[in-house]
Amino acid sequence: MDRRQFLKAGSFLTASAATLGLTGCFGRGGGGGGEPARSYTFPQGVASGDPQPASLVLWTRLGDAVADTPVTIEIATSQSFASILHSVTVTAQAQWDYTVRHKVTALQPGTTYYYRFRAGSGVSQVGRSKTAPAAGTPVSQLKFAFISCQDWSVNHWAAFDELLQQDLDFVVHLGDYIYETVGAAFQTGKVETRHSQITLPDGVKRSDGATYANTLADYRTLYKTYRSDSRLQALHAAFPIIAVWDDHEFSDDAWQDRQNYTTGEDAAKATSRRRDANQAWFEYMPADVSLDAANPSFQNIQIYRQFSFGNLATLVMTDQRLYRADHVIPELGAGSEIGSRYFVPKSTLAAVEGQKMSAASGSLDPVSILGSTQRQWWKDQMSAANTTWKLWGNEVSLLRMQVDGTQAVAGLMLQGLIAANAGLAALQNQLMNALVSDLTTAAAAVPSASKATQTPAPAYTQTKAVLALAGVSAPVFDAGIKPQLDAALPAAQFFDVFLLNADQWDGYNAERKALMKHLKDNAIGNVVALTGDIHAFFAGSVMDDYDAASPVPVMVDLVTAGVSSNSFYSYFESVVDSSASFGKTKPLIYTEQNGVRTNTFNSTLTTFNPWLKVANTDAQGYALVTLTPAKLSCSFHTLKTLSAGVAPAQPATRSTSRLEVVAGSPSVTVLP
Ligand SMILES: [Fe+2]
Repeated sequence: MDRRQFLKAGSFLTASAATLGLTGCFGRGGGGGGEPARSYTFPQGVASGDPQPASLVLWTRLGDAVADTPVTIEIATSQSFASILHSVTVTAQAQWDYTVRHKVTALQPGTTYYYRFRAGSGVSQVGRSKTAPAAGTPVSQLKFAFISCQDWSVNHWAAFDELLQQDLDFVVHLGDYIYETVGAAFQTGKVETRHSQITLPDGVKRSDGATYANTLADYRTLYKTYRSDSRLQALHAAFPIIAVWDDHEFSDDAWQDRQNYTTGEDAAKATSRRRDANQAWFEYMPADVSLDAANPSFQNIQIYRQFSFGNLATLVMTDQRLYRADHVIPELGAGSEIGSRYFVPKSTLAAVEGQKMSAASGSLDPVSILGSTQRQWWKDQMSAANTTWKLWGNEVSLLRMQVDGTQAVAGLMLQGLIAANAGLAALQNQLMNALVSDLTTAAAAVPSASKATQTPAPAYTQTKAVLALAGVSAPVFDAGIKPQLDAALPAAQFFDVFLLNADQWDGYNAERKALMKHLKDNAIGNVVALTGDIHAFFAGSVMDDYDAASPVPVMVDLVTAGVSSNSFYSYFESVVDSSASFGKTKPLIYTEQNGVRTNTFNSTLTTFNPWLKVANTDAQGYALVTLTPAKLSCSFHTLKTLSAGVAPAQPATRSTSRLEVVAGSPSVTVLP
């Protein structure tokens, strides 16, 4: 064997060059000759990933192995394997759970390859993959899907069957490939019967009844189970994947090596758990990255990396978990995740972010998602890209998602008033201003300590003055209207401007502004983020500064719903259904007539966030992109729901939104 073939053997990403022909072999126990003709199986199928012009990473895992076992990889340019281009024998090792990860180099650009694995007398299924076009060469079109959030334990995986019908160059996965918990509240919805309950060998039970993965064996169990599904296997066998992780490959809303299940829990490091999560991801994902097992840090792997596809597109994949600072307002400071990660008052977050940066002499490090090294790398990639498009595989949304609670409640009150007294419609704008003013004054009068529970007591001074213009007397107001208005009042804390989710870029506003400034200052255009995480479809422009008087669009963010995970809407629905303090805001999430609920959350979001061109908060699905030099065309596919435990038959798509980003303009057009 030629040691030079195996560039990354130290971290167990083996490599060989396709020009070396048929005889390469290496590794402990590697030899091929004299092996007993035992038949091994490949229960997790085959996969490929990280397409570069000259290389691909090929993956499989041996079932039934009890000791290190030689595995031969064969590559051909035809599905029949009539002529084998390259054959190499590596070793499936117990210490890596018998996974095989092999990088083949010296391949031809823009070429389809077929691959399979042999162990003993066992032969795997055949996988198909495709290298990227050569750097700088003209490329007229790329077609790919981007997906995220494939919770095994809820809904269904019909999306994979449908993606299989497409002719894709690759699939981008934005993370939440696995969920580290089973039995959590968000996983208790219906699931297809073919997905049985997962049992984690060492799982830790939480007080809410959920169990979370805590060891390498637990995380491996999750990947093995997810990858046992024939539809996911088929997707991997059909297309190369370019994957990064989000939080659930380790722990919900995680940062660095910190878990966040209970308030203040993230004060303690969970380094070995994080390292186990890293290792399992590394073992099971066909990614061209190294894991340094000898490095005792949790930062023993680097998954941020770059791809290019001819002169058409650069794709930058970032890691938004391993280097990110704690949420700007820690859970302990807020008392819970409400006020820390969710429903965070915008002004409080801005003030604390400013304080943290001042204390660090203006550095973004204490308020960063990317960390300083990766941030500089991102800027360098964006500056250096000489392709028409710059795509960014970005886990959490860059789009501002805020709600002005005072405006929202005043709007609801006004709707009620006008519904009961149509004659007041002419005074709508004056009444709105008067209500907002009265509510603001009343909410400010509630002591801070009681704001979460106490409703304000407005005197309605200004509202009464406007109503007097319409002939509504004070006694009529007090007897007939005031009780209606008071009945709609939520707790005082709601009368503020909120960021819905500070675990996404909204919670790291200063760094987002710095990235947008870099693009703007250097006139870097045609930047489009491909995003997952939030279990909803969104699309819109990312602004240089969302809080400016006139924000300027800099790039575009396209956000795909989860493949199966419960929707963003469903979380808010359960909050307003179960929380006394948020219950009064129900009409901002849904209305109900004759037992039928209608989603109002989409319009609540677009009302307060005019940059959102698409807001579809109650969906599962996937996104397809066709990219040409002139435009990026994207379709968001919303899937039909589960029926009696069975995934919908093909076509599983219920509806499609079609969007376009035209080269030269950082904006999204929704096509009719
Ligand atoms: Fe998710």
